Amino acid sequence: MKARVWTGLSLRSLRLSLRFVLPLAVAITILAYVTVPLVDQLTLRWFVRDLDIRSRFIAATLQEPLVDLLGQENKAKINRLLQRSIQDERLFALGYCSKEGKLLYRTSTLPSSLGCTLPIAKARDPKSMIRLPQGPVHVAIDPIEQDGVTIGSLVLVHDMSFVERRSSDTRRYVIILFAVLGVTISLITVFVAHLSWRGWMSGVRAMLRGEGLVRPFSQPPTSELQPLVGDLRALLRSLDAERRFADDASVSWTPDTLRNLLHKELTGDQVIVVSNREPYIHLKGQNGIEVHRPASGLVTAVEPVMRACSGTWIAHGSGTADREVVDRYDRVRIPPDRPDYTLRRIWLTAEEEAGYYYGFANEGLWPLCHIAHVRPVFRTGDWERYVLVNQRFADAVAKEAKSDDPVVLVQDYHFGLLPAMIRRDLPKATVITFWHIPWPNPESFGICPWREDLLNGMLGSTILGFHTRFHCKNFLETVDRCLETRIEHESSTVFHGGTLTLVESYPISIQWPPPWQETQPSVVECRADVVRSLDLDERSLIGIGVDRMDYTKGILERMRAVERMLELHPETVGRFVFVQIAAPSRSALEEYKAFDARVHALVARINQRFATDTYEPICLKAEHHEPEEISRYYRAADVCMVTSLHDGMNLVAKEYVAARDDERGVLLLSQFTGAAQELHEALVVNPYHIEQTADALYRALNMPEYEQRERMRSMRAIVHDFNVYRWAGRMLIDAARIRQREKLAARIGRPL
Ligand code: F6P
Repeated sequence: MKARVWTGLSLRSLRLSLRFVLPLAVAITILAYVTVPLVDQLTLRWFVRDLDIRSRFIAATLQEPLVDLLGQENKAKINRLLQRSIQDERLFALGYCSKEGKLLYRTSTLPSSLGCTLPIAKARDPKSMIRLPQGPVHVAIDPIEQDGVTIGSLVLVHDMSFVERRSSDTRRYVIILFAVLGVTISLITVFVAHLSWRGWMSGVRAMLRGEGLVRPFSQPPTSELQPLVGDLRALLRSLDAERRFADDASVSWTPDTLRNLLHKELTGDQVIVVSNREPYIHLKGQNGIEVHRPASGLVTAVEPVMRACSGTWIAHGSGTADREVVDRYDRVRIPPDRPDYTLRRIWLTAEEEAGYYYGFANEGLWPLCHIAHVRPVFRTGDWERYVLVNQRFADAVAKEAKSDDPVVLVQDYHFGLLPAMIRRDLPKATVITFWHIPWPNPESFGICPWREDLLNGMLGSTILGFHTRFHCKNFLETVDRCLETRIEHESSTVFHGGTLTLVESYPISIQWPPPWQETQPSVVECRADVVRSLDLDERSLIGIGVDRMDYTKGILERMRAVERMLELHPETVGRFVFVQIAAPSRSALEEYKAFDARVHALVARINQRFATDTYEPICLKAEHHEPEEISRYYRAADVCMVTSLHDGMNLVAKEYVAARDDERGVLLLSQFTGAAQELHEALVVNPYHIEQTADALYRALNMPEYEQRERMRSMRAIVHDFNVYRWAGRMLIDAARIRQREKLAARIGRPL
């Protein structure tokens, strides 16, 4: 493996080096090719000039003895003088010419082709040499004077073969010089290029991780890349916009779309869901083991996604018969009638459940995030159990993971610490955390004594999802207030402790088409059924509310609005019946017990006030109902009231809309729900304002059929398009994009 990495590395650097070195070698060769003849010519000229000077000097030296001997006409001595003079190793031959140009004396070495005039080539270019059969020579003719009068001339022939020798030496040295220069420049270039390459790569990798994007004007990873930061950010944004546009415009989201997405974008990577609440609860009933589906928005949304993805769901096994149906690894295949995925159950002791679930999660974080005028309670013991249980789930994730990079969907406020714990065990995992409840403003969150630990834990996520942009904004502001991080508001990312977290809004939704669409009874049948079972008048106007028995749901405010409407519009007394389904929830907590009692007391008071022998305005059904039963109520009701005092999304609103395929019925919706930002055709109310809610209820009961149809049609289109598959799909697409980016960044650093 190591050898392959090194081979890859050297191959890549060889290719990279060649890219620099080859053009350099070509340029240096051309330069050498042009330079060598130039240097040759230059040195030749210098030599010719030197020989001219030398010739003149020799002629001047010989002048006096020669003139003397010429005067004596001593031929033998003249010849000896000439012969002696050419003992000089360079002077090759000498001759003496009369002033008439006749060669009178000569050394035996003087070539016969040379006479008393300069050869044509030399005459044309005095700085050239002459090539004779003996070799290259330099010829100079210098005058011999007596008393200032020219009496003849001396022909001096210098051997120039040494020039050729020197020229070839020079040529060799110049070529060696160029070669050494080329190699040195190449080495320096390759070295500098390699260093810059590494710098650029780490810079680009940092930008891909978002570091350069986090603070656009802060010090970028390498200063050369500073101009690229903006471009890269723009590119990423436009790609993201394109992707979202394509996603929003063309894709109709179904379980198949989600399945295909998993196979295409995430190449079938393993999906693990972690939540506190399990999707199916096995309970010991009178007739053996019964299976229940809990009243939970989280389960409503995530269960269909899991059926499409076929992964593993890790959850707290809280049912009385849960242990009886699991295998020895605490796993059970579900849904029971048509198993699609695996449920892995985690067992908690009563103390652990009391501290982690009832205590820290539901007495602390739940009221802290909802700001519904119930004070949060924080105890150290609860916190310690919260930490412990989060770790237990993290261990289970590591155990269930079939690879080192699964996609883990962490659900809700029960697992604020889990993302960072998962990242410690599986650094390459893609952790998508979805916070199903609102995120408060920084001041409110500041109450939590373990705020930094929670934020650190959550920032272990690759993606952190909330229902609305407003909650994302609150979260970013809280992080800014509590931790030392780099926040990029434009791209909604937080860089903290080496992890980049995308904080994004993903409005949750429900499955579409609704699960019972094919099999459920008609609206007329449902209505008849409800009327019969509640013993109502056939002409009754029916209102429905479906909630867990929770103080955030605005159940008391809803009852007061019903009461006020009955007061203001007495004609509705005897005719309007409000059915409140309230699933028991967290009843071990004092706050919930007290709330349950208050609801019962209020309902009793209102019923007493308006009751006749055959009529009670409010029918409180404080017990668990299976989803099919609830759907029957939705289809029977003329109005559905959702009056939460604060709610992340509220899926009851969407379920009601989905159930009304007859396009009838009116949705009355609290402005403090996430759903109110999508379902604009609902009658939106402030649940704290009792008269306003009562008016809206009256208006709903009197709304003309055509208006109901128009409103319902528009809301159904929204829920149809923005269903739960899109919710999960958008998160998974973002996850796939981030995974791709991380893989690319890792590849840039690694050999191909
Ligand atoms: O709103 C948060 C949430 O997790 C919902 O998804 C769900 O409806 C509810 O809380 C369930 O609460 P519990 O699991 O405590 O019954």
